[in-house]
Amino acid sequence: MKILVINGSNLNMLGIREPDIYGKNTYKDLVDMIDAHCKEKGIEVEQYQSNHEGDLVDKIQYAYKKFDGIVINPGAYTHTSVAICDAVKAVGLPCVEVHISDVDNREDFRKISYIRAACVKTVSGHGFDGYIEAIDYLAGEYVK
Ligand code: DQA
Repeated sequence: MKILVINGSNLNMLGIREPDIYGKNTYKDLVDMIDAHCKEKGIEVEQYQSNHEGDLVDKIQYAYKKFDGIVINPGAYTHTSVAICDAVKAVGLPCVEVHISDVDNREDFRKISYIRAACVKTVSGHGFDGYIEAIDYLAGEYVK
């Protein structure tokens, strides 16, 4: 089983950006935590981060026929990007939307998620553990 984990805009700034909201751990801490979990579970994982919408679309397309599922936190593109939503629909892979913070209980504009329509599940407000939840969900439900 092979899962692609994608992080979008400003998630490379974890540990620096608004630590009261996103925590003090860094993007590298997140990557290491996911790698360690997947190794333990025997899941093959590739991780990718970009601040650029088109690069995120390219990476989702790249997953076509190569991966069994996608875990994605698009960052602010969650609330703006039809292109990322369309890319997930295009590849037809089960995709879980993850947010570190509880987006439904913040500003109104964060309550809108374009990608949600293309996802089998959303995990929001569970911090870094939300990525693990998303991976385990895909592994349990979809990836055989
Ligand atoms: C985020 C929430 C988004 O609203 C925000 O723009 C982010 C991070 C989260 O993980 O909580 O960049 O996706």
